[in-house]
Formats: sequence, C-alpha cells, structure tokens
Amino acid sequence: MSKKDIDWGSLGFGYIKTDKRYVSNYKDGAWDEGILTEDATITMTECAGVLQYSQSVFDGLKAYTTEDGRIVTFRPDLNAERMIDSAKRLEMPPFPKERFLDAVDQVVAANADYVPPYGSGATLYLRPFMFGSNAVIGVKPANEYQFRLFATPVGPYFKGGAKPITIRVSDFDRAAPRGTGHIKAGLNYAMSLHAIVSAHAEGYDENLYPDSATRTYVEETGGANIIFIKGNTLVTPKSSSILPSITRRSLEIVAEKYLGMKVEERPVPIAEIAEFEEMGLCGTAAVISPVGKVVDHGKEICLPAGMEKMGPKTQALYDTLTGIQMGRIEAPEGWIRVIK
Ligand code: PLP
Ligand code: COI
Repeated sequence: MSKKDIDWGSLGFGYIKTDKRYVSNYKDGAWDEGILTEDATITMTECAGVLQYSQSVFDGLKAYTTEDGRIVTFRPDLNAERMIDSAKRLEMPPFPKERFLDAVDQVVAANADYVPPYGSGATLYLRPFMFGSNAVIGVKPANEYQFRLFATPVGPYFKGGAKPITIRVSDFDRAAPRGTGHIKAGLNYAMSLHAIVSAHAEGYDENLYPDSATRTYVEETGGANIIFIKGNTLVTPKSSSILPSITRRSLEIVAEKYLGMKVEERPVPIAEIAEFEEMGLCGTAAVISPVGKVVDHGKEICLPAGMEKMGPKTQALYDTLTGIQMGRIEAPEGWIRVIK
C-alpha cells in the first residue's frame, strides 16, 4: 500500500470519494453488526424520514499523521458521546460509543492511503452521520435508521488558511432557545444556508449569530465556536444553544494547563467584542481561524491583532493544539487514539 497520488497541499475542504466507508442499519429495535463497503451510494424509499422531516444528525472529526508516522484520531470518544446526545434529541436510537470508536478505527485503517502525510497541511476528515430511512408520512420518528461513516482528505476550511477573516453579525437566527443549537442536527445547517450564501455575496467569510432571544450576546458561527483573548485570558461564549465544540473544550484545557492562561466561559455581549485583542473561530474543520474584523450592521469592529496574521495568543493556542494532534507535544491522557 502506498499513499494516493493527491496534491495534498492544494486540497480545500471538499469531498473526495475514498475506498471504504462503514454502514450499519437499525431495524426491529437493534443495530446490525455493521460492515465496511465500497458502495458510496444510498438507496431508500422516497418517503424516508430523513427526506420528509430531516431526521438526521452528524458529527465530524479528523485523522492525522503524526511526526513519527503514526495515524491517530483526536478525542473521538467525545464525538461518539455528542452524536449520542444529538440522536436522543431527535428521537433516534443512539449508536453505541464503542461501536462508533470501532467504526472510526476501521474506516481510517481501510483508507490509510488517503491520510495526508505529516507536514502536508491536510488531514483526513471523518463524517459519521445517521438518518431515518423508512417511510414516514405523519410527523413522527422513523423506526429504521442507517449509520454511516465516510472519510475524505481535506485542507483548510477557509480559503487562505490562517489569514484573518471578516465576519458579519447575522440578521438571521441559527438556534432558538430550547431548540437544537446544542446538537449536530442537519436541520441547523439547512437553515444556515441562506445566511451563508448572502454573507458570501456581500463579501463576508461567515456569520456571527447572536442569541436569538435578545440578539445582544455572541453565540457562534455556522460551523465553529468563537474564542476571544483579553490579556492573558481566553474567553468563550457560554450559551445553551451553541454546539459544545470539542476543539473549544480542548483549547480551554490547553490554555490553562499548557499556556498558563486564565479561562472564562461566560455570556459575551456583542458590545464587548471591541474590548478584545484577538478573536478566532474554532472547530474540527476550522481548527483556529483568526477573525480580523466583525461588521455589526455597518459598524466595523477591527480586532487589534489585524488582518495580516494571527495574534500571538491565538498562534500559541494553535501551535499547541496542532502540536498535540500531530504528536509534537505530549497530549493529556486519553486525547490521542492510535490507529496504526
Ligand atoms: N459549532 C458548530 C455549529 C459546528 O458545526 C462545529 C463543527 O463541528 C463546531 C462548532 C466545532 O465543533 P468541534 O470542535 O467539535 O468540531
Ligand atoms: C466540523 O468542524 O467538523 C464541522 O462539522 C463543521 C462543518 C460545518 C464543516
């Protein structure tokens, strides 16, 4: 086996079909044993729960090649747990944690030739998802489901990689209080599509969603949590309607334990953005993308770190997190799962 002939350095965040994916079906109250398959297509009834009422959840994680040539995943147990929470909220049968971890291991090992080499700037993105697959016409949960997990090699989520981006405060809402913002339901992303298309058309890279109830606090973006730096403190917005980002939770530990920073998780008023020195988006796909400017209905808030490069604290967080993921820096116990 040898690595695929892919120009790893020029990959964007897109889909490339890889050799094998994992599939398990749920029927009569139980998940089957699951298989790896080369078949990347899905055939189902026109009336499937996912097609009619969007009963689908997903998650996202990456496999990395470390400095010493191993292939590893980063905290996949937390993705498994989050996907269980997502499934429960949409009345779907959770896919068991140990089964999830085994599926990740199998898919990465079967597609090892697609795991980008160390230092290439690319990684193997893993997309577990599940959906209601039997016919449902009255509004109710399906009783048959499919869990799938595929892999695709990816580069940076935002064009330009680590260049600071410009985001706008959105007039559209992402997540209602007591809604589904805290889980990874496909429906959250469907309803963000109009907002992202119009943001791009107006020259912005992403939307900052304020809290839907008062529109005065920072929540998150369409695909990442938000971090702020003030002095030696990492500040992250606290809200019950944002996704509990695994990257953000990891950065809080990195900041405190590796970089000696203070960490505050608290409601952050939009009016406070102008008081921060650095700002970034964090997530599996985004890693950490620095934000240089926030536009709030015509008012420009320019972060002192500027539009040229990441600020120093963001850079230290980025270097330490990616150093842990790529095996250059010792990881906290249990963060790295070695596949081969
Ligand atoms: N917020 C949203 C809405 C997301 O889609 C994601 C991506 O998974 C994140 C935050 C970041 O979460 P994580 O760091 O677990 O990838
Ligand atoms: C991820 O970071 O894994 C995500 O799912 C974000 C997605 C919107 C690409």
